[in-house]
Amino acid sequence: MAKTKTTFFCQNCGAQHAKWLGQCASCGEWNTIIEEVVQTDEKRSWKQGSFVKHTQKALALNQITFTEEDRINTNNKELDTVLGGGLVKGAVVLLGGEPGIGKSTLILQVALGLTQKVLYVSGEESQNQIKMRGERLDGKNSECLILTETNTQQIFSVIEELQPEIVVIDSIQTLHTSVVDALPGSVTQIRETAAELIKFSKETNTPVILIGHITKEGIIAGPKILEHMVDVVLQFEGDRNHLYRILRAQKNRFGSTSELGIYEMQQNGLREVANPSELLISEKDSALSGSVIAATLEGHRPFMIEVQALVSSAVYGTPQRSSTGYNIKRLHMMLAVLEKRAGFKLGAKDVFLNIAGGLSVNDPAIDLAVIVAILSSNQDVAIPQNYCFAAEVGLAGEIRPVNRIEQRIIEAEKLGFDAIMISKFAKLSKTKFNITVLRASKVEDIVKALF
Ligand code: TYD
Ligand code: MG
Repeated sequence: MAKTKTTFFCQNCGAQHAKWLGQCASCGEWNTIIEEVVQTDEKRSWKQGSFVKHTQKALALNQITFTEEDRINTNNKELDTVLGGGLVKGAVVLLGGEPGIGKSTLILQVALGLTQKVLYVSGEESQNQIKMRGERLDGKNSECLILTETNTQQIFSVIEELQPEIVVIDSIQTLHTSVVDALPGSVTQIRETAAELIKFSKETNTPVILIGHITKEGIIAGPKILEHMVDVVLQFEGDRNHLYRILRAQKNRFGSTSELGIYEMQQNGLREVANPSELLISEKDSALSGSVIAATLEGHRPFMIEVQALVSSAVYGTPQRSSTGYNIKRLHMMLAVLEKRAGFKLGAKDVFLNIAGGLSVNDPAIDLAVIVAILSSNQDVAIPQNYCFAAEVGLAGEIRPVNRIEQRIIEAEKLGFDAIMISKFAKLSKTKFNITVLRASKVEDIVKALF
């Protein structure tokens, strides 16, 4: 029996401490440190007893012959884009997201859409449950094998027997290895099992997809501590009450992190959304006050999004300000700018702001649309449906240019908008567009032009 040793781990960030502390010195969270058993004097390997001896020589950069990574096309355009052109052989991909967001659905759907032999290991659901889920999806990969197992040694023995080309683990929190004596889901287990899988992946050049749960509070120890160990970290996010899901790369050793994929959750799985703008703008017969379209950019992808505002007289003492999908502090700032620079008395009004589709937007180019939506609702003047907006608004009420403005203009043009309002100071290399480009330099200009 190996000697047992214990250490204290923070369940939030994975930091290791020599003694128990009330507050983690590394991430500042309270009550997250627990004692876990670690055993360091046993050999760790994905194949017990068979160590592969590496005799790698150190080379100068110019001695290294460059080879393009060998990639597997996943037959899922959005996922391929986010991965930077397909799944790299020997890469370990961590897919994180809140429970119930659709991680298992996405990966099972991808596994069923492939032609390669895939081993889908589930520690969460029975084969029956996965069968039921699979019935709803359309892929028909007969070489997608489902295994319900949580012990990594057992999993590796199945892998050795089946020789799959891709391995999926759902989820990393349910795995345990016999090498360490800690509970599944604990920092030690997650780290050890992930290390074994990474070693397996690198030695056999097999891509491994790890699914990991993240909770908003970060209570479950987890994916955070794996982020630096894996090659690619993908985040699957969205509002569970809405249909849209966004797949983002937070880290990618083989591609850019600015790409993103958009899906829609349907009865038969996740549908890839190639043109998000059409979905995010609600269909309506006539222009309504308070509803304005912004030309935003997520990653490299421009899309149009609807901003809705409702301004009404406050019935109760303190006016309410609420915002969904837009930073509330920024909303307060926009309201202050409108009061100070354009003379609107919004101090005694309730202001509600909503970004349609349940998306959360960080692009500052949405500011102008927010201001226009608030004014439109306040004055009860509808903004024509064929107008869109893209500019940041500063504290002095100045309309500031945003990045990739031409890409936004072209997208608006493509979608049939008649006019786009941008900053007067935005620099365009092209002057001729099929869309009217309106320019504004101050909030006052907008009020004059539209109301
Ligand atoms: P799931 O993939 O189990 O989430 P996770 O693995 O991230 O915990 O997603 C489950 C949700 O997706 C569940 O609420 C049902 C819904 N769903 C659909 O709407 N359509 C489908 O075709 C499938 C398979 C699931
Ligand atoms: Mg799941």
